[in-house]
Amino acid sequence: MAEPGTLHDAFIDELRDAYDAEKQLIKALKKMAKAASSPDLRAAFESHLVETEGQVARLEDVFGTLDEKARGKHCDGIAGIIEEGKGVMEEDFDEATLDACLIASGQRAEHYEIAAYGTLVAWAQAMGHTEAADLLQQTLDEEKAADEKLTALAESGINQEAADQAHPDEENEDDEEEMAVAAPSSKKGAPAAAARRKGARR
Ligand SMILES: [Fe+2]
Repeated sequence: MAEPGTLHDAFIDELRDAYDAEKQLIKALKKMAKAASSPDLRAAFESHLVETEGQVARLEDVFGTLDEKARGKHCDGIAGIIEEGKGVMEEDFDEATLDACLIASGQRAEHYEIAAYGTLVAWAQAMGHTEAADLLQQTLDEEKAADEKLTALAESGINQEAADQAHPDEENEDDEEEMAVAAPSSKKGAPAAAARRKGARR
């Protein structure tokens, strides 16, 4: 009977999964950048695309530190997330809504990667693969920053723009009052406007 696999085997398996996931994401990010209407969102996808190419190279270095050949294994998880994102891009949404949906898809992918790299770093550390752990930590940090960037973009106007398209009547009811409420800071503007809408519905 064959020896049971070890954590090291599972680790190499997860690395192959991540390697394939990054390659799938390179293709997806190109499409997402093209589909984005907001120049800031497009720039965010394009810069993460460049970062992702670096992550592929970094994974090759990780394989190298372990004397393993860089090899991918089809990542079903990210394939599913990308497939769902494609479905959204095929819908006939207004521009702001499509941007909001692209952010939602992008964040699903980031969260998947954050989970994957979090595990990889922890396993590498537990097994004493410190060089690999350091490299994987760099990618984990980049994924977290990319996720935060998308949150910032969503909250700095894209979600509100899409929401205003969805509820234009409520938005235009009392522009002066709205400006006064929303003026103090753009971050507080969204909940304040939402609260005002609730009031207007009564
Ligand atoms: Fe990545």
